[in-house]
Amino acid sequence: MTVRFSGKLALIAGGTGGLGRAVSLAFLEEGAKVVVTYRKQEELDALEREAGSKGSSIEGHRVDVTDEIAARQLVDRVLAEHGRLDALVNTVGGYAGGVNLWELETKVFEQQLALNLRSGYALSRAAIPVMLKQKYGALVNVASKAALDHAAGAAAYAASKAGALALMDSLAAEVKGTGVRVNSVLPSIIDTEANRQAMPDADFSKWPKPQEIARVILFLCSDDARVIQGAAVPVYGDS
Ligand SMILES: NC(=O)c1ccc[n+]([C@@H]2O[C@H](COP(=O)([O-])OP(=O)(O)OC[C@H]3O[C@@H](n4cnc5c(N)ncnc54)[C@H](OP(=O)(O)O)[C@@H]3O)[C@@H](O)[C@H]2O)c1
Repeated sequence: MTVRFSGKLALIAGGTGGLGRAVSLAFLEEGAKVVVTYRKQEELDALEREAGSKGSSIEGHRVDVTDEIAARQLVDRVLAEHGRLDALVNTVGGYAGGVNLWELETKVFEQQLALNLRSGYALSRAAIPVMLKQKYGALVNVASKAALDHAAGAAAYAASKAGALALMDSLAAEVKGTGVRVNSVLPSIIDTEANRQAMPDADFSKWPKPQEIARVILFLCSDDARVIQGAAVPVYGDS
């Protein structure tokens, strides 16, 4: 077992969710102290249980990361308590759609922008200055295949994920040469419990497991990936 993150601090936004939980556990396995944002206490409890003896290395904060002030306060707390922020992974996001754009409620459009685009915006603005000061840090934002592949019935989702990808691309160009790196991963369908329930007749074996995507994310956050800046890594598997 490689231990690439011993003594490092990883902040996982949405770190108790379907993908986020696997990312949190993978960082713990590799020696990191892990701070997660969560919304439901039972999700945090489940993560701590799953982490077993490493559960004490998890710290949870109930934060709405689409709120810029709350995101800044979160990063300030991490810094005050731990003195560093080595990796930030934003797994907050979600899908709403299945209707044509002209039928979509504007409220849903705005929610999609908040969840998929504003989350990364608020978190980056809070975390990047800290990483720049350290001259070290890695940010990975979870976008989606839909950022590139704009299907019917998914206009708000696709636009929000495409926006998130563009945001991270620009940010990566801005931090070039500073020791800070910014990259995105693009999942297609992930083998989460929610997807199994939503698509019970699908062939689950074709879907990448959260743990497999987590390994790619950890690689991007690791020093092994120090030459990777501004990438959008497809993690579609066979789906
Ligand atoms: N699952 C897929 O097939 C798939 C495919 C392509 C891309 N992705 C992307 O991959 C990422 C992870 O997906 P997932 O399936 O793991 O989603 P998930 O299970 O819903 O996890 C997201 C987590 O973020 C939390 N969250 C939602 N809004 C938040 C907010 N404003 N502030 C803080 N936390 C918030 C959620 O809490 P609640 O549970 O309370 O909502 C949940 O714990 C997302 O960006 C998603 O768009 C997923």
